[in-house]
Amino acid sequence: MGAEALKEVCIMKIIRVKDYEELSRKAANILAAQIVLKPESVLGLATGSSPIGLYEHLVEMYNHGDLDFSNIKTVNLDEYVGLSPDNDQSYKYFMNEHLFSKVNIDSKNVNIPDGTNPDAEAECSRYEKAIGALGGIDLQLLGIGNNGHIGFNEPGDFFPKETHIVDLTESTIEANKRFFEDISMVPRQAYTMGIGTIMKAGKIVMVANGEKKATIIKEAFYGKITPQVPASILQLHPDFTLVADEAALSQI
Ligand code: GLP
Repeated sequence: MGAEALKEVCIMKIIRVKDYEELSRKAANILAAQIVLKPESVLGLATGSSPIGLYEHLVEMYNHGDLDFSNIKTVNLDEYVGLSPDNDQSYKYFMNEHLFSKVNIDSKNVNIPDGTNPDAEAECSRYEKAIGALGGIDLQLLGIGNNGHIGFNEPGDFFPKETHIVDLTESTIEANKRFFEDISMVPRQAYTMGIGTIMKAGKIVMVANGEKKATIIKEAFYGKITPQVPASILQLHPDFTLVADEAALSQI
């Protein structure tokens, strides 16, 4: 089936919400439904500022006794090369802080690329195999970078298939410097799941909020499918849901 024909059969769902609070609640409900319906789900998780509210809601539901993470397995999208889990800018630290330390997830069931492994080839192949051994991802959560990156798959000439090492673009380093003391401290490389790894997930849910995402949301989902806008490939996924606020959808 060609890309155009495939596009015909794919139905991208857009859930339009008022603001970040509603986005976080609705997206958390989608993840919660997955956890309730399949308590041993493999969840693909994301970092960045966009999913923080969603994680807060999941923790709240867990505290009310509505969610059980004991059999949930997680695989994170990416990690900075060179940062150890105790570095407060590492994605492992972020996940512990926002979710893992607050729910009954078994640390054995948590997977994040090891940013301290200097052997990129070994680390990426280990991670890709670990995802395969879990039987693949049931639901993958995504944010979107200002340049259309998903995970850390930066704009390029092709869609990378598997977990790999990337050189971060200047625009990503610039966008992510807000989390670091100084731009010189932002790592220049990351390990990330590939576009193929992400596209194999059974369901994909993206959260996007704020006016700064409006241009890229329009390009990614109303423009042509191109590796120059990595998120545009999601137009071809059979079960893709975008949960976005009015500001992020303002150019559509
Ligand atoms: C980082 C992460 C992405 C995330 C993006 C957007 O680059 N690797 O997974 O989607 O930031 O971040 P934010 O949600 O803060 O806009």
